Amino acid sequence: MIIFSQGDEAIMMRTHWCGELRTDHIGQKVRLCGWVNRIRDHGGVIFIDLRDRSGIVQVVFDPSVCSKETHKLASEVGSEYVLAIEGEVVRRPPGTENPKLLTGEIEVRGEKLEVLNTSKPPVFQLTSSEDVDEMVRLKYRYLDLRRQKMRDIIELRYRFTKAVRDFMDGEGFWEIETPILWKHTPEGAREFIVPSRLHAGKFYVLPQSPQLCKQLLMVAGIEKYFQIARCFRDEDPRADRQLEFTQIDIEMSFITREDIFDVVERMLAYAFKESAGIKIETPFLRISYADAMERYGTDKPDLRFGMELCDITDIVSGSSFQVFSQVVASGGKVKALNAVGCASFSRKEVAELTEMAKRAGAKGLATIAVGKGEVHSHVAKFLSDGELSAIFERVGAKDGDLVLIVADQSELACSVLGLLRKHLASKLSLTKYGDWKFVWVVDFPLLQWDEEEKRYTPVHHPFTAPLPEDEPMLFEGLNSTLPKGHPEHPFSKIRANAYDIVLNGYEIGGGSIRIHRRELQEALFKAIDLPMDEAYHKFGFLLEAFEYGAPPHGGIALGLDRIIALIAGTENIREVIAFPKTSTGYDPMTGSPTPISEQLLNEVHIMLSLGEEERLT
Ligand code: AMO
Ligand code: AMP
Repeated sequence: MIIFSQGDEAIMMRTHWCGELRTDHIGQKVRLCGWVNRIRDHGGVIFIDLRDRSGIVQVVFDPSVCSKETHKLASEVGSEYVLAIEGEVVRRPPGTENPKLLTGEIEVRGEKLEVLNTSKPPVFQLTSSEDVDEMVRLKYRYLDLRRQKMRDIIELRYRFTKAVRDFMDGEGFWEIETPILWKHTPEGAREFIVPSRLHAGKFYVLPQSPQLCKQLLMVAGIEKYFQIARCFRDEDPRADRQLEFTQIDIEMSFITREDIFDVVERMLAYAFKESAGIKIETPFLRISYADAMERYGTDKPDLRFGMELCDITDIVSGSSFQVFSQVVASGGKVKALNAVGCASFSRKEVAELTEMAKRAGAKGLATIAVGKGEVHSHVAKFLSDGELSAIFERVGAKDGDLVLIVADQSELACSVLGLLRKHLASKLSLTKYGDWKFVWVVDFPLLQWDEEEKRYTPVHHPFTAPLPEDEPMLFEGLNSTLPKGHPEHPFSKIRANAYDIVLNGYEIGGGSIRIHRRELQEALFKAIDLPMDEAYHKFGFLLEAFEYGAPPHGGIALGLDRIIALIAGTENIREVIAFPKTSTGYDPMTGSPTPISEQLLNEVHIMLSLGEEERLT
C-alpha cells in the first residue's frame, strides 16, 4: 500500500469525489478512488479519466512529475480497473479545457497510484451511449448501472422517493410496512403463490397491493398511512408493467376525494421539483370517465395534443350511405376525428390506418381528404354536400386535413379512433418531452357486466364506494325487474367514487373512497352475486374489522416506476428498475426462475406434475 498507510497512521481512502472537483480546488492535494473510464497515452503522458459515482475527472501521469514506477503502473492499467490516486488539482492548460465535463476546467496531476483491483474488459462499451442488446445489459446489470445514463436514473428514483417521504412526513403521514406473506383473496390480478413448510398443503400469496392492510390500518385508527410498497402480480409483463413493481400507497380517514386529490397534487408537485427541477401546474384537470371515452376514446387520455373525437351521428343518421345510417338505426354511433394536415397521406399510409382500425375491431374506416374546393374519398360520393360540410364544420376540418370516420357500437367506435389518435400523435411527433399534462379521470362505472360469467363484477375492487348521489341505485338495482346486463339496469349506471390519475397518456395511479358501512357492503356483494357466507370466507377478517367502528376512509396508489420512467423520458419501466425482469418474467443475470431440488419441494409438500426432464430444463 503506497497511499493508504503512512507508518501507523490510518488515512482516508478518498478526500474528494471525482465529479465534484472545480477551479476552487486548484492547489489542493486530493486522494480519489474510482474506475478507469478511459485511458490515453499522448507521447508518454498518460491521461486517465477516473470515474466514481459523482462523475469523471481527468488524472494526468506525466513522467516529469510522478515517479518512474507510478508512471509505469499508470501505463499498464486497463478499462474499469479500480484505482486510488493522489495528486494536486491544477488548471488545465489553455485550449485543453473540456466544456462537456463539469470538471473540465481542471485536472489532477497524478503523483501516486494504487491499483485496488483489475478488471476483465467490460462486455460492452460503458462510455458511449450506443444501443446495447437489452438481454446483455440485464445479464451484466452491474456493468450497465455504471453507465452515466443509468446512474442518473437510479439517483433520480432515489431523490424522488426521498422527496415523497419528506413531503408525506410533513403532512403527518406515517410510513408503515405491511406483510409480504399474505392471504389469497379473489378478485384482481393473479397472485404469486408461496408454499408453507409448517402448514402442509397451505399457501401464502404475495400481495398485489397492500389494499386490505391499509384499510385495516384505518380501522386501527392510524388515520394517515403511506408506504413505498412493493406489489406482486402474476401478469404478462409489458413495457409499462412488471411482475413486481412499486407503489406510493396512501390511505386516509375522515376525508373526501378532494382531500386525496389535494395531497397527491401537492406531493407530485413537490417531488417533481425536488428530484428533477420540474415545475408542474396544480390543480390538475379533471374529466369524467364517460367524457374521456367520448372525447379521447380511452380512459388514459393524452392531453398534450388536440384531435378530439367528434360525434357526427346526428349528421349522418338519415344519410343515404347505408354503412352509416344502418349503424345509427341499430343504436350505434358514428364518430369522427380530424387528422390535421394529413390530407397528403399516401394510399399506403391510409391503408395502414384502415388496417389498424380493423385489427382493433372496426368493420372499416372511412377517410375524407380535404383539398382546395374538392375532397378525395371513396365514401364522399355517398354523402350529400350538406352532410359533408356539416361533418367538416363539426370536426373543424380545413384544406389539407384528413377526416377519419368509424361507425359502430359507441364504445368500439371511440376506442378505435382513440387508438388512431395515439398512433397519429406519434407518427406526426405531436408530443415533446417536458410537457406534463396531468388529469384526474373520475366517476368510473362501479360495476361492469361480465358476459362470460353472467354477473356484474366490480370495475375497481369490491370495497369501492358508489358516488353518494348514486348510492340509492345500488338498492334499486337489487329489486329491478330489468334483466341483468341490460344497459338501462340501475347497476349499469352507478358511478363509483373512484379515480385514476393520468400523465401524458399513462395511468400513473388509481384509488377510491371505500365502503365502510355494512349495509352498503352487503348490497354490493349481492349485486356481484357473492353470497355473504362466501364473502366471509374470502374477506371475513376485513368484514369483521368493519364491525368495530370503521371510519369513513379512502386512498390511492401511484405507480412509482411509471412516474420515474416518464420523468426519465422512457416508455420502458425496466429502464428505471435496478434489477428488472424481462418481458417474459426472466432474470438473465441470475437465471431465475430456476428448478428446485426434489428435497426442497418435499419439505414444502409439493409434488410436480412435470416429468424429470421438463422439470430440470
Ligand atoms: P391499481 O391496481 O390501479 O390500484 O394500481 C395502482 C397503480 O400502480 C401501477 N401499476 C403497475 N406498475 C407497474 N407494473 C404493474 N404490473 C402495475 N400494475 C399497476 C399503475 C396503477 O395506476 N390498491 C389499489 C389502489 C387503491 O385503491 O388505493 C391498486 O393497487 O400506475
Ligand atoms: P363497403 O360498402 O363495405 O365497401 O364500405 C364502403 C367504405 O366504407 C369502405 O371504404 C369502408 O372502409 C368504409 N366502411 C365500412 N364499414 C365502415 C364502418 N363501420 N365505419 C366506417 N367506415 C366504414
